[in-house]
Amino acid sequence: NTVYVLNGPNLNLLGMREPEIYGADTLDDIAAMLDDRARELGLEIEMRQSNHEGHLVDWLHEAQAEGAKAVLLNAAAYTHTSIALLDAIKAIRTPVIEVHLSDPSTREPFRHHSYVGLAAAKTVQGLGARSYLVALEAVAEL
Ligand code: DQA
Repeated sequence: NTVYVLNGPNLNLLGMREPEIYGADTLDDIAAMLDDRARELGLEIEMRQSNHEGHLVDWLHEAQAEGAKAVLLNAAAYTHTSIALLDAIKAIRTPVIEVHLSDPSTREPFRHHSYVGLAAAKTVQGLGARSYLVALEAVAEL
């Protein structure tokens, strides 16, 4: 009953990075929130972050190999650029839920297109750190 939570580039700086857009919570704060909610839902969280696209591809493969229940993926800027991540999501049967703190559709035009969204089972965005919690609750309903 493990849910992989994969976080892409610059999300290691959450809390100090453009807090007016992304909020004051750090990735550790979000991990703690997710752990608490997961316990209530009978799930377990495997939290990862990388600034390297290929690591995210490897972890999507790993999620399937390990029989994860689902993946929450905040691919950050790779959302808007990465055909490799799109292909990896398509290559696995594990459901992937796209997550964003901000709402990219109301920001710069280059954030309006999401490769991840073309293959994700669902997208949760624009709720700040709560986007992760709502996505986790959606996993419990899968
Ligand atoms: C983000 C939105 C992306 O456009 C941006 O590149 C990020 C964070 C978010 O969570 O709001 O790094 O994925």
